[in-house]
Amino acid sequence: MVIKFLRSGNKEVTQSGRTEALEDILTANIKYRLVTKKTRLQDPQFYISVSDVKETIPGLNQTLFSDNQAISQELHPLPIDYTDETNGRINFFIKPCYLCNIILKKVLSEGDTYGYHGIIKDKQTILVEYSSPNIAKPFHAGHLRSAIIGNFISNLYEAVGHKVIRINYLGDWGTQYGLLAQGFNKYGNKEDLNKDPMKHLYMVYVKINEDVSKEQQNSGPDKHEKGETHRKSLEIFRNMEQGTASEDLQLWKHFRDISIEKYREVYERLNIKFTDYEGESMYSKKSLELIEELKQRDLLHIDDTTGKGYIDIEDEKDNIKAVVQKSDGSTLYLTRDIAAVLDRHKRYNFDRTHYVVEDGQDLHFKMLKGILQKLSVPWIQRYGDQIHIRFGRISNLSTRKGKAVFLDDILNEAKERIIKTIHSKQTSKEVDSTETVADILGVSSIIVQDLKEKRLNTYKFSWDKVLSFKGDSGIVLQYAHARLCSLIDQCGCDIHSIDFDTKYLTEPEAIQLILHIASYEDTVDKCLTSLEACHLVHYLFSLSKFISVAHRNLKVKDQPKEIAQARLQVFKCAKTTLANGMTLLGITPLDKM
Ligand code: ARG
Repeated sequence: MVIKFLRSGNKEVTQSGRTEALEDILTANIKYRLVTKKTRLQDPQFYISVSDVKETIPGLNQTLFSDNQAISQELHPLPIDYTDETNGRINFFIKPCYLCNIILKKVLSEGDTYGYHGIIKDKQTILVEYSSPNIAKPFHAGHLRSAIIGNFISNLYEAVGHKVIRINYLGDWGTQYGLLAQGFNKYGNKEDLNKDPMKHLYMVYVKINEDVSKEQQNSGPDKHEKGETHRKSLEIFRNMEQGTASEDLQLWKHFRDISIEKYREVYERLNIKFTDYEGESMYSKKSLELIEELKQRDLLHIDDTTGKGYIDIEDEKDNIKAVVQKSDGSTLYLTRDIAAVLDRHKRYNFDRTHYVVEDGQDLHFKMLKGILQKLSVPWIQRYGDQIHIRFGRISNLSTRKGKAVFLDDILNEAKERIIKTIHSKQTSKEVDSTETVADILGVSSIIVQDLKEKRLNTYKFSWDKVLSFKGDSGIVLQYAHARLCSLIDQCGCDIHSIDFDTKYLTEPEAIQLILHIASYEDTVDKCLTSLEACHLVHYLFSLSKFISVAHRNLKVKDQPKEIAQARLQVFKCAKTTLANGMTLLGITPLDKM
């Protein structure tokens, strides 16, 4: 058995422990070189540092463990090479009942904050931008993945004590809105728009784009001419940007408002919230001002052949021309991103910022970073490497309704499939098939399926895998949680009593589970340094396995009072830890299913 329950700053502390003479002794091997900090489990008694170890070996027990009775007085007589920092180990015994007592008390007293105390040294303000779909275009898998990952990262930061600003940055600006305005006049109507804004705008967008293609097809032999509709869209957008197309702007604003309203609803189903919705449009004017500033600072060059404005930036290998101005003077996606980040810094004074965006936009964020370096923005020096939180593509995500995905179709499909599975399975009779439960199960499954992968992995979406009642899935976590709730409910003990004695926890199944609970902090810490949720997801899968073993072997009902009370606490702590982890992932733990 390998356990880890110590942590030490950013360094990984590897500690392996074996239960020897399983009943009452746990032997832990600590690579002493790495254990330079006190552990939060034992507090000062466990304080070990390299120099301590070297100097105090003869009286090891006293110095290291002071008057801590939990540590067996007979320390292993060890042939340690004290000078060898790599392989040096100190073995000591610790009575599991003492360790278990510390862990359980800690979890019981910290409750929904268990796992998050003392992890960070200084509290920061962190701006996380995620999801960021485009109005009138389909919400693709990348927007979903970004929403799930960004929400997790934000939850994690908040849990450990940072202040988080959560931004959804809508694609609501650009020539395509000149097209949409024309399209709506030709193909749209207010009634359908109000009924389902996303789909209606998308339909309009598709139709008007078809017109553009047709005009291009008919444009003569070389077929390069884009035609009247396209030309007009450029003009409309230019006027929108200059603030002179008031009718188009009004219409555009209506599209935007109504889409945000709808988005809010759907994100709510996913347990995802934002501090604010921004849009590229907010930074149109500021982008024009930025261009002026770039000119004044002599950073803007104009390309002789294309007439486009660019900034020269140096990457590790290449020189990149980052284009920030079109030949007609209007701004681009990149320009708006620079203006946005500068403005956000003024408003929120963040210490760092993350953009949770598909790996495919790597070059875009490299350019953004390069430009910020050119502008000598101070915070970029410290946190530049973590600006773009990249992730791989999900392929194959489609619903019965078709390839173009809409977020609510995905969630509805998950819900419907769950209800169907529940009805078709006799074994799942006890599963509640109400809409709310099915909806939460569907969402949990989608979230877990996504977060169990390393961010940069690409994966093929499969409904069967996502909604599996067996194997590692969101449903399995929910099941473990609901089962704990019902055990606690029906255990026949006083569930509020915290009067218990861990000497009654003698079974290895109990100790294993408790040690796993103790390593939750480590897992949180790992997620925090890597910004990878998969560590937590896999931790929770293991936790649910330990819980299920404990269910089989540690009965609570009809047991002698002392034993029942002690076991009950273990289950309560397991439930707290599981719920805390699920909540970080963005899942609402179910009490019943
Ligand atoms: N709306 C963009 C898209 O769908 C993503 C925006 C990412 N964020 C940013 N600040 N550039 O591709």
